[in-house]
Amino acid sequence: MSIQWLEPSMNPERNRGISRRAFVKSAVAIGGTAALSACLGRESPDLPQGPDDLSTLPARQHAWNDALARDDHGNHVPPRHHVVRLLDYTGDGTPDDGERDTVESALQTLERAYPRSNEGLLFTIGYTPAYFDRFDADRPAGLPDPEPLANFEDPTPDTPDAAIHLASDYGSVLLAAEEALLGEREEINGVDVETDLANVFAAADLADGGMARRTGFIGDGLPAENQDVDGIPDSEPVDEESPLFMGFESGFAGTQATEDRVTIDEGAFAGGTTQHLSQIRLHLTQWYEQDSREHREATMFCPAHAENDRIEETGENLGATSGVGACADDAESDARQKGVVGHAQKNARVREDGRPIILRRDFDSTDGDEARVHFLSLQSAIDDFVATRQAMNGDDLAESGAVGQRTNNGILQYMSVERRGNYLLPPRASRALPTPQG
Ligand code: HEM
Repeated sequence: MSIQWLEPSMNPERNRGISRRAFVKSAVAIGGTAALSACLGRESPDLPQGPDDLSTLPARQHAWNDALARDDHGNHVPPRHHVVRLLDYTGDGTPDDGERDTVESALQTLERAYPRSNEGLLFTIGYTPAYFDRFDADRPAGLPDPEPLANFEDPTPDTPDAAIHLASDYGSVLLAAEEALLGEREEINGVDVETDLANVFAAADLADGGMARRTGFIGDGLPAENQDVDGIPDSEPVDEESPLFMGFESGFAGTQATEDRVTIDEGAFAGGTTQHLSQIRLHLTQWYEQDSREHREATMFCPAHAENDRIEETGENLGATSGVGACADDAESDARQKGVVGHAQKNARVREDGRPIILRRDFDSTDGDEARVHFLSLQSAIDDFVATRQAMNGDDLAESGAVGQRTNNGILQYMSVERRGNYLLPPRASRALPTPQG
């Protein structure tokens, strides 16, 4: 491992006490061969290979839930480490079948190399409206250009051609998978790497210097160990057990859309889904230094949860649902009478059949040494994300003057959306450089 090459927080000479999990997180953020060998020295996973018969894998790329671990309450536990690579197609005109074979074969190499699970590797590939615009036919339905979704935000649209989302509990698995895709290694977990994506895709050239490689983590302890970044006060406030920087559990089984609900059910991409990916900056100084615990509970969940002390520590005691379904109808009266409304409470107003209409697979990040969330959600059409975001804006509640446009109005005050991108995740059978007809 080259000591000079690593950022200070990874330099073992200066950080003898750094924990294994914080070290792995830093390695994923940095990427590359040196980070991979540093990571392997700490993790040494002994993983079996993936299946010989790939037809046993699910038809939906986004069918991850059955491959995830569950906690004691039955909630799906997301993989701890994440990388998203935003890519531009490098060919002229439209992709040909040879390029499709290349992409499919490179992706199959990863599937053969690792079990499709949180301990092995989960991944998806998706395509933007900009990608589909190179074809004569219309874009697939439900896939608009990314645009601002609140009158107080001015995000940069992300318009690469594609995005690959890789996730695993092991940072070394992600780094090895990236190297295989880039053609930088000859074998991966004992499987020969015969094709890679280097002749078809390159790192996306994004507007305003956007990051084409986005990394992050979610899971108990990781945020606390990585809180030494801009956006979080120096007092080390993040709960040692929290899975996210803001201190609470997220993604209860009962507060997520089902995979069926977010699956496109007809047309060329039936069996696929859409993905929204936003890059969000966190500003948590006031959250932790001035706001009380009660205020944090009220603005994240709902005032009734705070008044009745329903949330212990990070909220694991809530079980398999947050319980905000019961306070969704009180959003307006809470805003008027209590001067505060909760983030989850507002979002619960767009539930269908008692559940949200988007499936969140977001994670925290220290990319650029700044506290961020890479908010990744799946829904059958981007409209469902837009409807949820409008509920989260709470414009109707701010208009009455009971809460501010961003203050006391959920968690809007503590975050700013820097970039937005929309993607179509085809079913596995048409995931390699699809045409608008699938
Ligand atoms: C800084 C970024 C964010 C953080 C830290 C965050 C955190 C949370 C937390 C802790 C909950 C309550 C627990 C749960 O049910 O999962 C929640 C609920 C939820 N959030 Fe967020 N969230 C963020 C951004 C967003 C965005 C951008 C959206 C979509 C527009 C969103 C949509 C939802 C939905 C749909 C729910 C569940 C509502 C229901 O129960 O019906 N969140 N979020």
